[in-house]
Amino acid sequence: MFGNTKPLEIEVGSGKGLFMSTASAKNPQHNFLGIEINSKCAEHAAGRLARAEVSNAIMISGDAEPLFKERVPAESLEAVHVYFPDPWWKKKQRKRRVLNERSILDFAKALRVGGRLHVWTDVLDYFEETVEIIAEIAPELGVPIPEEEVEAQHDLDYRTHFERRSRRHRIPVYRVRYEKRA
Ligand SMILES: C[S@@+](CC[C@H](N)C(=O)[O-])C[C@H]1O[C@@H](n2cnc3c(N)ncnc32)[C@H](O)[C@@H]1O
Repeated sequence: MFGNTKPLEIEVGSGKGLFMSTASAKNPQHNFLGIEINSKCAEHAAGRLARAEVSNAIMISGDAEPLFKERVPAESLEAVHVYFPDPWWKKKQRKRRVLNERSILDFAKALRVGGRLHVWTDVLDYFEETVEIIAEIAPELGVPIPEEEVEAQHDLDYRTHFERRSRRHRIPVYRVRYEKRA
C-alpha cells in the first residue's frame, strides 16, 4: 500500500484522526495505517491526512477484526495503537469491544519482537480487564509499562481527540504500553 518497506504502525479506531496526522508528521520514517469503522469519521480523518499532504499515512474505512485476521502478516508490525476504545458497558454488548481475547491474540501475533501495543482509556474497568486478559493469554507482550501524561503545549497537542476531551473534563486516563518479547 505504501510502496516502501518502512516499519508499519496501525491505529485501531482512529476517530477523527488526530493521532494519525500528528504521529505520521512526527515520524516520517514509519508508515501509519488507521482503521475506523465509522465511515464519516474515517473520511474526516482521511481528509485531515490529505490536507497535511503526508505520504506515510493511510486511512481505511472498515472493521479492524478482519483486517488483522486476514491481511496483517504475523510478526510484521512496529506498533498497534488503541486509544479510548468504546466501552460497550452492557454485558451482552461486551463482544463488540475492540479489546477482547480474540483481538489481543491477533495484535500480539501481528507485532514483531520489540513491537509495541499502546492502550489508553478513561474506563478503569475496561483497562483492568484488558491488563488481566493480556497477562493471562499473551504473556509474550511482557509487563504493562505506564505511559506518562505530557503537558499540552497547544490546543491540538494531545494524542487523540478523546484525550483532549478527558483532560478538559479532568477525567483520569489510564495509559499503558507493552513491548513484545522474544
Ligand atoms: C471512543 S472513539 C475514540 C476515537 C479516537 N481513538 C480518540 O481517542 O479520539 C472509538 C472509535 O473506535 C471506532 N471503532 C469501534 N469499533 C471498531 C472496529 N471494530 N474497527 C475499527 N474502528 C472501530 C469507533 O467508530 C470510534 O470512532
